[in-house]
Amino acid sequence: MINLINISKNYGENQAVGSINLTIESGETTVLIGPSGCGKSTILRAIIGLISPDAGEINIDGDKLNTTNVTSLRRKMGYVIQEGGLFPNLSALENVSLMASYLGWDKERIDKRIDQLCNLTKYPIDALSRYPIQISGGQRQRLSLMRALMLDPDILLLDEPLGALDPLIRSELQEDLKEIFSTLGKTVVMVTHDIGEAAFFGDKIILIKDGQIVQEGTIYDLAKTPAHPFVTKFINAQRNHLDVIGDL
Ligand SMILES: Nc1ncnc2c1ncn2[C@@H]1O[C@H](COP(=O)(O)OP(=O)(O)OP(=O)(O)O)[C@@H](O)[C@H]1O
Ligand SMILES: [Mg+2]
Repeated sequence: MINLINISKNYGENQAVGSINLTIESGETTVLIGPSGCGKSTILRAIIGLISPDAGEINIDGDKLNTTNVTSLRRKMGYVIQEGGLFPNLSALENVSLMASYLGWDKERIDKRIDQLCNLTKYPIDALSRYPIQISGGQRQRLSLMRALMLDPDILLLDEPLGALDPLIRSELQEDLKEIFSTLGKTVVMVTHDIGEAAFFGDKIILIKDGQIVQEGTIYDLAKTPAHPFVTKFINAQRNHLDVIGDL
């Protein structure tokens, strides 16, 4: 579904991503994980065409991403940016329906879709008229997800969608998200810091360090056959986050 071929991105002297090759399979959840600053968000931004790599190419569904087709390819993807990225001056309803209105959907179609999405994400319908500052952190995350799903994209790119939530709400949202992914059969690329979350969601986990892929595979592959001492170090640093550790 998505292919990254030799993708590099530098900011001045600093290499954010260095010659990455990555295949994201259709209908699977691929998790990007690694220390802060290792290039996870940069990879998502490159896939959705918000930044253009210095070298390499990206193929989405067989089409090579370029300046001409970036707008149409972007509509195949729903994106939840790190920190949610909701517009503070728009209501919840306006945030979710912005793109659909822009594309000329009529009110009936928009209302119907929003009703479906409230059910799916368990966002309270009576909170649709509120502004982002007037809803809870968990509701903001649900709203960001609704906005990403509004146009029913095949691909979901989620940058730490459960960022700063308390553990109880986080685990509730994890369960809900997983159910949504499997119900909808989407191709999902999710960024997280948390190895437990990566194990919970990831059909495939990509561990990144300093802009390079250190290892890709299942959580079992990473735990049992680490490609580098860093893999073990990274997993062990978060052992208490990993419920499945007993099975490893
Ligand atoms: N617009 C920019 N200008 C200069 N440097 C940047 C820019 N965006 C990112 N970087 C740098 O590129 C590197 C990778 O950043 P990126 O945001 O991809 O990291 P990340 O893995 O998402 O980190 P985090 O887990 O903290 O969100 C970092 O060193 C960052 O400071
Ligand atoms: Mg990031």
